[in-house]
Amino acid sequence: MKTMFKYFITLMVLSSWLVSCGDMNSGKSSKQGALSGNAAEKVYVAPGEHDEFYAFVSGGFSGQLAVYGLPSGRLFKVIPVFSVDAEKAWGFNEETKPMLNTSHGFIPWDDSHHPDISQTAGELDGRWVFINGNNTPRIAKIDLTTFETTEIIEVPNSAGNHSSSFVTENTEYVVAGTRFSVPYPQRDMPISEYKGNFKGALSFISVDPEDGRMDIKFQIMMPGFDYDLSHPGRGDSHGWFFFSTYNTEEANSLLEVNASQNDKDFIAAINWKKIEAYVNEGGGKKVPANYAHNVYDDNTHTATSTMKKEVLVVDPTEVPGAIYFMPTPKSPHGCDVDPSGEYIVGSGKLAAELTVHSFSKMLKAIENKDFDGDAYGIPILSYEATLAGAVKQPGLGPLHTEFDGKGNAYTTFFISSEVVKWKLGTWEVIDRKPTYYSVGHLMIPGGNSRKPFGKYVLAMNKITKDRYLPTGPEVTQSAQLYDISGEKMELLLDFPTVGEPHYAAGIRADIITENSKKFFKLEDNEHPYAVKSEAESKVVREGNEVHIYLTMIRSHFAPDNIEGVQVGDKVYFHVTNLEQDYDVPHGVAMIGANTSELLIMPGQTETFTWEPKQEGVWPFYCTDFCSALHQEMQGYVRVSPKGSNVPISFTLDGDPVDME
Ligand code: CUA
Repeated sequence: MKTMFKYFITLMVLSSWLVSCGDMNSGKSSKQGALSGNAAEKVYVAPGEHDEFYAFVSGGFSGQLAVYGLPSGRLFKVIPVFSVDAEKAWGFNEETKPMLNTSHGFIPWDDSHHPDISQTAGELDGRWVFINGNNTPRIAKIDLTTFETTEIIEVPNSAGNHSSSFVTENTEYVVAGTRFSVPYPQRDMPISEYKGNFKGALSFISVDPEDGRMDIKFQIMMPGFDYDLSHPGRGDSHGWFFFSTYNTEEANSLLEVNASQNDKDFIAAINWKKIEAYVNEGGGKKVPANYAHNVYDDNTHTATSTMKKEVLVVDPTEVPGAIYFMPTPKSPHGCDVDPSGEYIVGSGKLAAELTVHSFSKMLKAIENKDFDGDAYGIPILSYEATLAGAVKQPGLGPLHTEFDGKGNAYTTFFISSEVVKWKLGTWEVIDRKPTYYSVGHLMIPGGNSRKPFGKYVLAMNKITKDRYLPTGPEVTQSAQLYDISGEKMELLLDFPTVGEPHYAAGIRADIITENSKKFFKLEDNEHPYAVKSEAESKVVREGNEVHIYLTMIRSHFAPDNIEGVQVGDKVYFHVTNLEQDYDVPHGVAMIGANTSELLIMPGQTETFTWEPKQEGVWPFYCTDFCSALHQEMQGYVRVSPKGSNVPISFTLDGDPVDME
C-alpha cells in the first residue's frame, strides 16, 4: 500500500511539473484553439444587451461572492459576505457590524467556498443564494432581490466548514458539514487522543419557506473523519444527503501520508427525513452551545446578532437505518449527484478511476443487509453492492463533477489539467479538453438540480501562469468558459475572477431579474435614526455623544455646516438617502473617520462614527458621483476643545438652526 501511495505522490509531483513546463507552448496553442471558429461571437454580448446567465462565483480567501454574467464573463458586483468591504461599508457601518459577530467576537474575514441557489421541487427558484464560511464556521444567505447578505448563522461543534452549503430539493435545509473533526464537546485534551474522541458534526439548518429564516434543526455527531464535500439526493433519492469523507484512518499528523493509507474511504449516506422524523418526535439531545445568529432587516436597514445557547445533537447509532457508509476509493473529494438522483459520483483524488454509486442499488443493499462490517456502529455497505460503474482511466486527480441534464457528466482533473465529458450509464469518455491550468471546481448553470440549463461549463482554475498580462508575483485566478451544446466541448473564453473561487452557482437571468429591487421605499424605512425629509434633519447632543440626523439628495446634505462638536465626542452620522429613483446612491466620508465611507441606496439609512482628535473645521463630502454638482455636495463640522461653550447648531437650507 505504501508503494502504491508513493507512486501516486510521484505522479502528482511529476504531473504538476509537466503542467508548469508545458506552459510556454500550451499557452500559444490554446489561444489558437479559442480563436478557431466563432468563439468570439458566442461570448459577445453587444453594448446594452444582457447576459443569459448569472454566475455567482465564490471569492475563496476574499470571503465574498462575485456576480458575473455568462457568457460574457463581465463582473457586475462583489457581494460582501464574510469580509469587511470598504466599497460598501459592510462591517464598517453600525448597521452591518452585527453580521460579522461570532462566538469568537467580531470576525471580519472568512474563506467562502460553495454557493448554492435555493430550489423548489428540485429546480432553481432564484430566491436566495447560500454560501459557507470555511474558517470560522458560518453559513450566509444572500437575498437575490437585493443581492445583499441578509443572514449569517454560525455553526457550532464544527471546524473548517467545507462540505457546505448545499440545499435540499425544496430548500428544506441548507446543509453544513465539518471538514476537521474536533473534540466533542470542545475541550482541552491531548491531540494524540484524537481517535475515537474527535467527532465530525453534520449540521442540518432549516430554511423557513416564507422568509428564509435559518435555524439549526439538528447536528449529527459522526465519527472523527474529515467530511469534505456533499450533495443532496433528488428525485427518488430526495430525503437523502451524501457526504464524501477522507482520513477515515483518523490520523492527526502528516495527513498527506497518514490519511492516505486506506484503500477506500467512505461516502456517507444520510437519510435526513428519517432523522427529521426522529427529532420531531422528541429524539436527540439538547446540548449547551454558543453560536451567533445574525439577521439583517430590510425595513430597519439594520442587523441584529443573537447568541444561541443550545443545539440539538443526534447520535447516529440511535437512529438505526438512517446512516450508511459506501466505500469509495481513495480519499474522495467531490460527491456529486446526477439530475435524476440515481447516481452518486465519488472523485477519489488518488484513485485510478471514477467511482459511481447507484442509489437504487444502495437501497437494495440496505434491504439485503449486504454489509461489510461497521464503523462506530454505522453499517458499511459492501463496495460491489452499491457500485453502478466506474469511468476507467478518465484522467489524473479527479475533483468535481457537474451534469448537463442530457445524460452527460463533466469531471475536472486537477493533475492532468482537463475537463472530461463522459456518459452516465455507459461510463464511456466522450471528450476531454485541457484547462489552463489545474482546474478545481467546475459549474454548469443549474448543474446541482433536477433541471440543469446546460449550454456552458465554467472551469475555475487554480494556476494561472501565462494566461494574462503579468501583475508581479501575484496573478489573478482564472476561469474558463466552454460551450457544451455540441458533442465536443469548445473553449470560448478566459476571464479573471475575484479571490480564489471554489465553486459557483449559475442560473438563467430572467428568474432573478423579474424580482430585482430598484430602490428601498422611504415610507417603509423603520430605521430608528431615519429622517424622511430635510425639515426633520437635526443634530442632538447626548452627553459626549453627538447624533447627526443627516439627509442627502442631489446635490446637498442637510444639515451641512455643523458646530458645537468637541474633541473627545463620539459623533454618529445617521445618514438617509432621500432619493426615490433607481441607481441614485450617495456616499459620505469624513476626514479622519476610522471607518470606510458609506454607500447608501435610495430610501436607506446607514450610520458611521467619528471621534475627532483635533480641533478645527473639518469637511465631509459625497463619495459617489451623483450629479453634475456632485463636487458641491459637501459640508463642515466645527470641532472645539473639550468643555467649550460653543452650542450645537447647524445650517438647514442655508439658514442657521440653534439646538440649545
Ligand atoms: Cu451625492 Cu455625489
